Amino acid sequence: MKRLLLTLLGALCLLSVEARERQNFDAGWRFILADSVSMSHYAYNDSHWRCLDLPHDWAIEGDFLASNPSGASGGALPGGVGWYRKHFRVTDSSLYFIEFDGVYMNSTVYVNGEKVGFRPYGYSSFQYDITRYLRSGDNVIAVRVDNSDQPNSRWYSGCGIYRHVWFVKTESIHVRHWGVHVVTDAKTGRVKVDVQVEGNGYKVQNTVFDAEGREVGLKVKHSHLWSPDHPYVYKVRTRVLAKGRVVDEVWTTTAFRDFRFDAKTGFWLNGQNMKLNGVCEHHDLGCLGAALHEDALHRKLVKLKQMGVNAIRSSHNPPAPELLNMCDTMGFIVMDESFDMWRRRKTQNDYARLFDEWHERDLTDLVLRDRNHPCILMWSIGNEVLEQWSSAEADTLTLEQANLILNAGHDASTLAKDGEISVNTLLADHLADIVRRYDTTRPITAGCNEPSPDNHLFKGKAIDVVGFNYHHQWIPDVPKNFPGRPFIMTESVSALQTNGFYRMPSDSIFKAPKEWWLPYTDPTYMCSAYDNMHASWSSTHEQTWDVVKHSPFVGGQFIWTGFDYIGEPTPYSFPARSSYFGIIDLAGQPKDIYYMYQSEWTTKPVLHLFPHWNWLDGQEVDLWCYYSQADEVELFVNGQSQGVRRKTATFHPTQSSLNSPYHVGWRVRFEAGEVKVVARKDGREVAQQTIRTAGQPDHIRLTVDYQGRDLTFVQAEVVDKDGNRCPWADNQLFFSSADAQIIATDNGCQTSMERFTAPERKAFFGRCIAVVKGKGTVTARAIGLKSTTIKL
Ligand code: GAL
Repeated sequence: MKRLLLTLLGALCLLSVEARERQNFDAGWRFILADSVSMSHYAYNDSHWRCLDLPHDWAIEGDFLASNPSGASGGALPGGVGWYRKHFRVTDSSLYFIEFDGVYMNSTVYVNGEKVGFRPYGYSSFQYDITRYLRSGDNVIAVRVDNSDQPNSRWYSGCGIYRHVWFVKTESIHVRHWGVHVVTDAKTGRVKVDVQVEGNGYKVQNTVFDAEGREVGLKVKHSHLWSPDHPYVYKVRTRVLAKGRVVDEVWTTTAFRDFRFDAKTGFWLNGQNMKLNGVCEHHDLGCLGAALHEDALHRKLVKLKQMGVNAIRSSHNPPAPELLNMCDTMGFIVMDESFDMWRRRKTQNDYARLFDEWHERDLTDLVLRDRNHPCILMWSIGNEVLEQWSSAEADTLTLEQANLILNAGHDASTLAKDGEISVNTLLADHLADIVRRYDTTRPITAGCNEPSPDNHLFKGKAIDVVGFNYHHQWIPDVPKNFPGRPFIMTESVSALQTNGFYRMPSDSIFKAPKEWWLPYTDPTYMCSAYDNMHASWSSTHEQTWDVVKHSPFVGGQFIWTGFDYIGEPTPYSFPARSSYFGIIDLAGQPKDIYYMYQSEWTTKPVLHLFPHWNWLDGQEVDLWCYYSQADEVELFVNGQSQGVRRKTATFHPTQSSLNSPYHVGWRVRFEAGEVKVVARKDGREVAQQTIRTAGQPDHIRLTVDYQGRDLTFVQAEVVDKDGNRCPWADNQLFFSSADAQIIATDNGCQTSMERFTAPERKAFFGRCIAVVKGKGTVTARAIGLKSTTIKL
């Protein structure tokens, strides 16, 4: 009995020890947009600095200016040097570490006036051991962030400590940073855990738990498999035992999945052949900028999931750890990408300057940080790096020119000669070796915009899965050009759209710019939301999807892009300041093409008629309809049938037509009233949708677009007295709240110069959104409209 009691007591002791403390360190920082060496000093008086909580992006608070050094490609928002300081206390003599998930960029960290470290690449996560800099009682950490040498990204980077910071306390015997490596085998159910521990005289104990929290052992019987539809995850608890107690404990998420890329049949997951229906995403969260907000990220993923997206490419840099956590549990396959350039620069001050000194460290850290995530099925060692050619002009051009030339094609003399293994090929192999040093369970790819097999990157051993950016015309030749090698489209489409703007005739394809070297101007600064506009190197959505869908050897595609992002406003320049490429606009409102993918990629019944029904009397208007789970659709204008349409069997990219295998259309004359589509299956009506001509703007309708833990996204629409959205309304809306905070607004317009953080926003084609922090009521007002209040 006594022995039993002792054993029980011992077990309780073991369980109760909290050896590692990992605290979020975001709260209570001070910030200034200024620079002086004295700001690192312990005794510096920072009491006049602004108080804020991280994550923080100072650029998003600024004004769009043509003169900002980031240029329109970088979002035309400010850069500069900023400092952050935080006071904190330590009371005992443990080991202390500080972890930064991401600081853009060139961060120098000081503790109590002493320099702890410098990290230039703004997308890398890093940790410092700060134990020896600490004193008992009050301590000060100061971080200098320097994003003044611009441009350094081909898109909006944001500025500041824009991801979370963590404060970690351990005992002297502890698991090293990223020191747990979990590898699973879906066939045998085996879980292999490798643990790196600092110190001597310890034992390591690993235990696996299923999603219900049951202990399942290191060989899991009948393991559940992970997939986008069933993202079943397990957890591994790693304990370090010394002196009869637990001195450290770390948890790791893992899963079982069996996947492969096949040269003939494409991508297989858990024995099922499927396509990667992916999108590329930059890291910004629209009007919230680069600052990480889990709610905003989750909202993004929810919208992509509903569209049928099953894969995400973190273009073109390491993502926030939270993205990977969510992809693990929500079910997205991830291509984790490292760099947008190697040694050859694309913009004046980009990573090429840092590459030689930092690439090994940054790439190693990416793999060590991310390799346990079950969602990651591929590493990408680079995007459209100029080392694909032995010489390339892009590194001598301006940022705008470089963005345009990337896919323009290069002289054959710049390709690898027969049997040549060039320095560029060796560099690719060297990067792949770094990845394989730490992970051999996933294939390596790179986004290549040189489709020739003589691309220097394809010549060595680096590339496991050949990845094309664009060049859908070259796809039929892939099996011949790359015999036996699996293939995906690492990047595709780049169609151009403004949400709510339609250029007719809709069956004409508009290229903008016509060729990369030609300027493109149009006084509207808008692009057409019919799928009839794209850049010279790219295609419509339907065109690429048709090739991917019907080529079994293509493992899938990553469309450029899921969401619009800040910067790179191709085909325009300032005052355009955000992208036109997204399937969803910057405010998070789906463009019409969203429903084409939903009709192809999901099992949801889809019926989406567009555009709106407010035109000039007698004007010729093209109406398009996306649908699924029906054989045909009939359109009625004020009760008069305009004919029944069925999707066509084959796609003819060159033939102008209102019908394709992916949509149907009608050309009709406008008369006020209503348009209605009726979808039928086997002769029976299965769905219908009506759009009415809106009258005069009367009031504002507020609806909750997304409700998160801290943030609510409220959509505002200008509607007539009957609740029809007024598609041409551009009223200035003013948002306010007594109890919550309006932290940002947006309307998806690529040229809006309104500040993202302002509580007012013009309606764009009748709508906009407000991002609200906290709970309470929100009121929207506008001159001449009835105001509306919503309770959150
Ligand atoms: C690609 C590039 C992307 C983006 C896109 C626009 O060449 O990888 O970052 O610039 O073109 O079409």
